[in-house]
Amino acid sequence: MAKNDTTAATRLTPALARAGFTSSFGVLAATLGSAVGLGNIWKFPYLTGANGGAGFLLVYVLATVLVALPVMMAEISLGRAGKANPITTLQTLAPKGQPWWLMGVAGMLAAFLILSFYSEVVAWVFAYVVKAASGAILSSDPQVTEAAFGALISDPLQSLLWQWGVLAFIGGILLLGVTKGIEAITKKLMPILLLLLVLLCAVSLSLDKAVQGLAFLFQPDFSKITASVVLTAMGLAFFKLSIGMGTMMTYGSYFRDDQNIPLTTVRVMAADVCISMLAGIAIFPAVFTFGFAPTAGPALVFITIPAVFSQIPMGQALMVVFFVLASIAATGAMLSLMEVPVAILHERMGWSRPKATLLTMGLLVLLGSTSALSNSTLADFKLAGMTPFDLFDFVSSNILLPVGGIFIALFVGWVWGFEKFSRSLTNHGQLHNHRVARAVFFLLRYVSPALILMVMLKGLKVF
Ligand code: PFF
Repeated sequence: MAKNDTTAATRLTPALARAGFTSSFGVLAATLGSAVGLGNIWKFPYLTGANGGAGFLLVYVLATVLVALPVMMAEISLGRAGKANPITTLQTLAPKGQPWWLMGVAGMLAAFLILSFYSEVVAWVFAYVVKAASGAILSSDPQVTEAAFGALISDPLQSLLWQWGVLAFIGGILLLGVTKGIEAITKKLMPILLLLLVLLCAVSLSLDKAVQGLAFLFQPDFSKITASVVLTAMGLAFFKLSIGMGTMMTYGSYFRDDQNIPLTTVRVMAADVCISMLAGIAIFPAVFTFGFAPTAGPALVFITIPAVFSQIPMGQALMVVFFVLASIAATGAMLSLMEVPVAILHERMGWSRPKATLLTMGLLVLLGSTSALSNSTLADFKLAGMTPFDLFDFVSSNILLPVGGIFIALFVGWVWGFEKFSRSLTNHGQLHNHRVARAVFFLLRYVSPALILMVMLKGLKVF
């Protein structure tokens, strides 16, 4: 593709065009917008609950710092150097004839799989705005909140319609080209979500069995850390930072040349971990106080959050606000996911953005519907013992993202090389990040690929 016919800003999504990233804070906020989503509010608490609590949390934090963070720096550096969608970027940066661009294709596949189940969880969050407003779920009785959630997910029509509504909403944002506006709103509203989470933590910490909840979250029981727990924790680390599939490479292509990549990624990572921690502190004391099961699975947040809100004045109104803000955070993450296939189809196939968006939406309606029906019509339709919802989640987080991470690390460590990587992290020697560059490069070249591969093989019981 001719690289000089348009600026990077016009080739890429109007929403994320470089014009939008005029400040260092803008870059940080946009990257955070992708990272912070239902991975923090929904996935982190339910996986922590299902995998034994503190031990899982510890492995997750280690995986985030030692594996995911270096891969994030690598991905963003590559994106900034290539200034295009992941396939084109990898073609530009790799030696002629080497098929590293296939990573971009795998990333697109991962984006489809993630969107197929993520859109259903977003659908539940949207539906909960209405349920919260009706007052029907404001209760600390597990039977009431579980029945409300069960009624939603086991109703095929409701599940499908909410999901299609979400897809139409996201598609509409993309088609109307108002992504930038939505992101500006997200940026303004996220601090309120943070405040609400802090409030929920305070309420939860005042509950009877708060200590038990905190012990579950922070006192590791090492016997619970199995190989599959480690793999799940690592997959979560990748998922939460939106890495291993090209999203951060795409974001990197919008990064300013004077942006400090290590500093930005560390900030995003720290904020992302902190927000998850808040979600955990808001939820687990309530789980133990009201008698919910920590192992409730994907339902966990939806059944416990109403119980916490039931303890405070104006709980119903605040819960509506919470789910509206969660919907907005989820919308930001979904838009960043959509960006991968839409940008690839647009730039590689030469389709217009509306056409690329419509095709992506169409495929998602088909594939996503199998997720939406996983708790009703298709509950008995299992592949490898999993419903389509669980399968898409498992394959993307525990296989595709880690494999993407391995190849990104290998590419930077063995093909792109230290010099270019170091120049990227130091902005051509202007920043004092030399030591960081050396350490991260060492991790990428030797540690990350081997470690990720080992965790995967063990976790998947290959040996
Ligand atoms: N990081 C997002 C979350 O935690 O909700 C999910 C996500 C967004 C994953 C974008 C992957 C991605 F490319």
